[in-house]
Amino acid sequence: MCGIIGYTGPLEAKRILLEGLSGLEYRGYDSAGIAFFDTDSQIRLVRQVGKVEALKEACGRIAADSHCGIGHTRWATHGGVTAENAHPHQAGRVTLIHNGIIENYHQLTEEYHLAEKLCSQTDSEVAAWVLDALYEGDPLDAVRQLTKKLEGTYGFCILFADRPGEIYAVRRISPLVASYTHSGALIASDLTALLPYTQKYFVVPEQSIVRLTPYKVQAYDQETFEKLQPEIMRVNWNMDAAMKNGFPHFMLKEIHEQPEAMKNTVLPRLSKGLPDFSDDRIPDALFAECSQIHVIACGTAMHAGMVAKSIMEPLLRIPVTVTIASEFRYQQPLIDSSTLAIVISQSGETIDTLAAMELAEDLGAKTLSIVNVKGSTIARESQYVLYTHAGPEIAVASTKAYTVQLAALYMIACRMALVRGIYSREEAAAFFGEFLDVIPAMEAMLQKQEEMKAVVSHLIQSPDAFFIGRGLDYAFSLEGALKLKEISYIHAEAYAAGELKHGTIALISENVPVIAIATQDRIFSKAMSNVREVKARGAFVILLTREGAPVDKSLADVHITIPPVRDIFTVFPIAVALQLIAYYASVGKNLDVDQPRNLAKSVTVE
Ligand code: G6P
Repeated sequence: MCGIIGYTGPLEAKRILLEGLSGLEYRGYDSAGIAFFDTDSQIRLVRQVGKVEALKEACGRIAADSHCGIGHTRWATHGGVTAENAHPHQAGRVTLIHNGIIENYHQLTEEYHLAEKLCSQTDSEVAAWVLDALYEGDPLDAVRQLTKKLEGTYGFCILFADRPGEIYAVRRISPLVASYTHSGALIASDLTALLPYTQKYFVVPEQSIVRLTPYKVQAYDQETFEKLQPEIMRVNWNMDAAMKNGFPHFMLKEIHEQPEAMKNTVLPRLSKGLPDFSDDRIPDALFAECSQIHVIACGTAMHAGMVAKSIMEPLLRIPVTVTIASEFRYQQPLIDSSTLAIVISQSGETIDTLAAMELAEDLGAKTLSIVNVKGSTIARESQYVLYTHAGPEIAVASTKAYTVQLAALYMIACRMALVRGIYSREEAAAFFGEFLDVIPAMEAMLQKQEEMKAVVSHLIQSPDAFFIGRGLDYAFSLEGALKLKEISYIHAEAYAAGELKHGTIALISENVPVIAIATQDRIFSKAMSNVREVKARGAFVILLTREGAPVDKSLADVHITIPPVRDIFTVFPIAVALQLIAYYASVGKNLDVDQPRNLAKSVTVE
């Protein structure tokens, strides 16, 4: 979950590392540090608790020039948030940064008699001491030996005291991407850190060791040390996409980018009015031959899966199971060779999702991933990948990635209905024609943001909020509640509206905010009965319906309407509304919208 950057080349390294860390802060923000070779080829270390700003201040006091170094933002796993536990860690001739978890660090501490030497409580420092013990002047050999000793996951960037100007890197599962540019050699945990310098990169291959010098980045096979030529990839994101561009927060910018992201994801895959995945090399047989679907994901991506289930099951008439990735692995899931596993991940690096996908594949499932980051592990390791084109998502709370994941899932649903003979070409084209109306509907909701802003003055007075809905509206509510709790710290729960009276209604009292979503014609009157029940107990009701819905005005303290898109598509404008409510609640409470406490954008530990 930690952010990693390394640089060696003609430019001033400290500046590149610190700027890189600012861009990577969404990966972790409890402490940060850098290590670099100074003009005397001595390694200097600066570590600071808190955000990268604090590290920048500390570094500002250091005059030393530098052209090679490594930097890290931490999300604590082993040991508290202290300067000693911050990376880089130094052990004899070794200085390193680490993302991941070394599972056998206790055994290694004993085997190498490290207890007296350790200055931190981290597993990473243990790895540094082991590497120092193994180092006899040949970095490649020492790193190779280290990898044989370690159990767990890692992405390491390493400086050896007697190798100024050189950075060594190795990884197992934890992501690392590298690039050589006219301005020098770079390595990072995320593409966004490379964007100011290049759009070309390669994914550090597992089973390799990478050496960065000012003139070259070279990957070597871990066993034979033969030179490798990893595939060079190109990303079409640019720096602008990773800047706030006048918005006060990344989250607000990303909410506003959604109509564009939808177009980028959907339009290139439209052929004669139908979704077409030929360019993604996804064969129709994948959709025709499966007898069940398992959706595997975490967090917001899992909520996209919940919506997909509500759409796909009634349309395709096959079982669609949605499982939280961390649970899937331990559930002995019922998977066979006729299972299609749809794996959803913005980052493509969430470790539980990756492990669950590997298990599904081992059990015989075909795997199709829906991923935003090109070349990420899940994208590479799934049998088929459907990239979403949201551009970089920087705010920790996911917004545009969610709606484009949904767009991909709706396209899959439509294509599956077509290839399975449920829809004729005309019916599929009609479905998709109506689907495209969601883009102007999302734009219309962005125009209404003052309405959402107005709602929060009441919401933020309350420690709790409840989201209720039935059917598809319940699936949307889950994501609305998650958004609100993760960035406003208001305790928010989503309930299937009909289930309220089996317990939760005991929590509804005078002025408790209830966000009621009622966009489904078929069950509208049932949903309104549930609204009546909470209203009767004094709730402050924020009601979301489609324009023109027959609403009894006395039930809603605030009534927000979305454009009248077809009921199976209402998630798109509703998502915008709920995201804006959460956003303004966080702003209203003066919180850190983009980097909420305890969270990280990409969860690469179990
Ligand atoms: C973290 C993020 C969430 C995200 C989840 C899954 O918890 O904070 O926003 O939904 O991970 O991430 P993924 O990259 O797999 O979609």
